[in-house]
Amino acid sequence: MTDVLLAIESTCDETAAAVIDRELHVRSSVVASQDDLHARFGGVVPEIASRAHVRRILPVIDEALRQADVQLADLAAVAVAVQPGLVGSLLVGLTAAKTLAAVLDVPLLGVDHIAAHIYACRMAAGRDVFPAIGFVVSGGHTNLYDCENAVEPRLIGSTIDDAVGEAFDKVAQLLGLPYPGGPSIERLARRGNPRAFSFPRAFLHDDRLDFSFSGLKTAVLYAVRGTPGGREPDSGRLRSRLALPEERLPDVAASFQEAAFDVLIAKCDLAIQQYRRQTLCVGGGVAANGRLRERLHELAADRGIELIIAPPSMCTDNAAMAGIAWELLDRGLIADLEIDVVPGLVRRSP
Ligand code: KG4
Ligand code: ZN
Repeated sequence: MTDVLLAIESTCDETAAAVIDRELHVRSSVVASQDDLHARFGGVVPEIASRAHVRRILPVIDEALRQADVQLADLAAVAVAVQPGLVGSLLVGLTAAKTLAAVLDVPLLGVDHIAAHIYACRMAAGRDVFPAIGFVVSGGHTNLYDCENAVEPRLIGSTIDDAVGEAFDKVAQLLGLPYPGGPSIERLARRGNPRAFSFPRAFLHDDRLDFSFSGLKTAVLYAVRGTPGGREPDSGRLRSRLALPEERLPDVAASFQEAAFDVLIAKCDLAIQQYRRQTLCVGGGVAANGRLRERLHELAADRGIELIIAPPSMCTDNAAMAGIAWELLDRGLIADLEIDVVPGLVRRSP
C-alpha cells in the first residue's frame, strides 16, 4: 500500500480530518461544520469554536480513518494546520496532532492554512501547477500571492480592512439572511439586477494589489436602512428596520456581489500582469460562488491564462487540502514537538 498521512484542520469553525496518500489521492475527508453553533451570532465566536473542536476532534479523526480503511499504525506522518487562525481553535488541532505523532513516532508536519487553500488547486489539477498567482478569498482572508512553488507563497496583496467573505457575512446579516452569508447572498443575487445600485469599488483603478471592503459594506447599510438621516426617532440610533421595500433586496445582493467581484477580478488581472504568471489558482470559501467562478473564467479566457479554481468542496475549510504536507515532508520540513501555533497572517512580503 502507498504511504498515507493523516491531516487535521481546526483553524476556525470547521473541525476536519483527512487521509491523503502520497499520490495525493484523498482517501477520506471529514468536515464537521459548526455553522449551526455560530448562526445566531452572525459570525464565529472564538470560544464556542474552540470548545466545539475539543468535543469533535477525536470522533472526526476516527471517522476519517474509518472511511479510508486505515489504522493508526498505517500512518506515515501527521499533518496539521498551525497558521493562521483562531488561537484556541488552532491549539486543539495541534495538540491532537502532536500527541498522535509522538505516540506513533512519525513525522509531524505543520501546514500553513493559506498555502493549503492554494494547494487545493494543485490537488484538483492532478499535476504541478506552479509557478502561479495564488488567490485566497475566504471569511478571514483576501490575499494575493506570487507562488514560485507550493510551499513558499509570497504575499503581494491583501485587504486593509474586512475580508471579502466577512463582507458577505455582514451584508447577509444586514439583509436578514441566514449565516453563513456567502451562499445566502449568492442565492438572493440570482434574482436581482447587479446594476440596480452603484456601490463603491475601492482601489479599482489603482495599481496597488490591496483591497478594502468596509466602504462597500457601509454603502449597502445606507442603501438598506437609509442614510444617517434615517435614524430611529426615539433613540437616534441608525434605523434597524428596512428603509427599502423587501422586493428590492435581490437587487441589493446582486449589486453588492458584483461590486465586490469587480475588484477581485481587476486585482487578479493586475497580479498576473505585474508578476507575469500564466497560471491563476483560486481557493477559499468565496471561490465556491458560481458568479465569481464565471467571472474568473471570463478573465482567463480574455487573458489567455490557465485558471484553476478549487472544487467547491475544497474551497471552504477542509483537511484534504493539507495534502501540501507531502511537499513539506519531501523537503525535510518536519516540525518538532516544540512547534507552536501562529494565529496571525504570516507575511512573506518582498
Ligand atoms: O475558507 P472558509 O471556509 O473559511 C475561512 O478560512 O474563512 O471561508 C468561509 C467564508 C465565509 O465568509 C462564507 O460566507 C464565504 O466563505 N462563502 C461564500 C460562499 N460560500 C462560502 N461567499 C460567497 N459565495 C459563496 N457561495
Ligand atoms: Zn480557510
